[in-house]
Amino acid sequence: MKGPFIKDILKMNPDNKEISVCGWIRTKRDSKSFSFIELNDGSCMSNLQIIIDSSVKGYNEFINKLTTGSSVKIDGKLVKSPAKEQNVELHAENVTLYGEADPEKYVLQKKRHTFEYLRTIAHLRPRTNTFSAIARVRSAMSFYIHRFFQEKGFVYVHTPIITSSDCEGAGAMFQVTTLPLENIPKTNGKINFEEDFFGKKSSLTVSGQLEGETYACALGNIYTFGPTFRAEHSNTTRHLAEFWMIEPEMTFCDINGNMDAAEEFLKYIFKNLLENCREDMDFFNTRIDNTIIANLESIINEEFVRLKYTEAIKELEKSKVAFEFPVKWGIDLQSEHEKYLTEQVFKKPVILTDYPKEIKAFYMKLNEDDKTVRAMDVLVPRLGEIIGGSEREDNEQKLVKRIKQMNLNPEDYWWYLELRRYGSVPHSGFGLGFERLIQFVTGMQNIRDVIPFPRAFKSIDF
Ligand code: 4AD
Ligand code: MG
Repeated sequence: MKGPFIKDILKMNPDNKEISVCGWIRTKRDSKSFSFIELNDGSCMSNLQIIIDSSVKGYNEFINKLTTGSSVKIDGKLVKSPAKEQNVELHAENVTLYGEADPEKYVLQKKRHTFEYLRTIAHLRPRTNTFSAIARVRSAMSFYIHRFFQEKGFVYVHTPIITSSDCEGAGAMFQVTTLPLENIPKTNGKINFEEDFFGKKSSLTVSGQLEGETYACALGNIYTFGPTFRAEHSNTTRHLAEFWMIEPEMTFCDINGNMDAAEEFLKYIFKNLLENCREDMDFFNTRIDNTIIANLESIINEEFVRLKYTEAIKELEKSKVAFEFPVKWGIDLQSEHEKYLTEQVFKKPVILTDYPKEIKAFYMKLNEDDKTVRAMDVLVPRLGEIIGGSEREDNEQKLVKRIKQMNLNPEDYWWYLELRRYGSVPHSGFGLGFERLIQFVTGMQNIRDVIPFPRAFKSIDF
């Protein structure tokens, strides 16, 4: 597509300029001597109104084929619109029909479909208002994320997708293999990975952090932005098996610097979104959740709460709420707890720190109390955790001890440990789940609706 696009056409002067526009018909109304078309080209939410006079060449042949979903090119004159809702409209002089869409069969007619149904037609759902808006917001947010880090001099590092190390140490990884599944080579009952493609057990990455740290410890500040994979059996509205993560890593930076960075970062991308994607955000605010714009505005202007895990547990114990998962020091917080803190107690984002070491990954820096680690999770209303991060353990001996305590093998992490042996520095970083972010800003309830082709437990339709 060459343009001009409808997004720009709607702002043009209606001065009889000759233009051509391509797109898909959303609706058509016929009157006696002309037809009105609402055309959408995906460049924005709004449609361009087009008037086709019955005197246009070929009118009688094409007019009945211009149905919802069909694709056309219209050449015509841009004139002032008498209607209040729009400034301009296009008077067609020539109509080219590219592809018809049989109204008996094409499912995206005027009728509204449920999000569940639209998930089964993931190839067509981007043609709806909601999903085209999500696609534009995803794209814009990616850009603001890159711009934030690039403006601050962070280096974008492409960490591997196939890996032989388990970053989170949780074991929820998808294996990558070319071994014949029907006849796996074994020695003494154990799988012989030497015969596998890489000669070693390999998996899809759960996080680019460990590799990211190697570059941070050379370049200062880096970030990654790529797909990550988790074979968790969580069938929830917040979990995907394939999702995108943004992971900055900063050297000479402790947990306080990490919290400052996460807060500044979120505020920056929210502000850019509200300033630049207003039409789509207004749509989400009217059609999906009428609190999102006000919430984002207050988040931009207020300081996040910073609270230690131990304090949060006290706060939860004080509450009268009957939680499904009982609260006591040492538990991993569930989303009901995270939501209670952000929605009921503080009514804004909360950065929770200093979690018990048992419930966090091996690489987090141990506090002097020997019980808690310098973890920091950013929790937001409605969703709970959207960012997980920490200051990293930079002492080799302490790190080896933690690796062993978590029943992992230090030999598997030999290169990660060497970062602590040669020129070790305090460093910190975090991971933002991109889909949770998009859920948060659009108000969409289900994470499967904010990624084009969702992959989740027992669910891969496309
Ligand atoms: O808290 P997590 O597991 O942290 C890490 O992976 C660290 N290596 C990050 C770092 O310090 N560099 O995951 C980070 C974020 C979560 O807060 C959540 O937003 C998102 O990734 N996330 C998921 N999003 C969708 N589906 C899943 N299954 C997710 N698991 C985590
Ligand atoms: Mg986490």
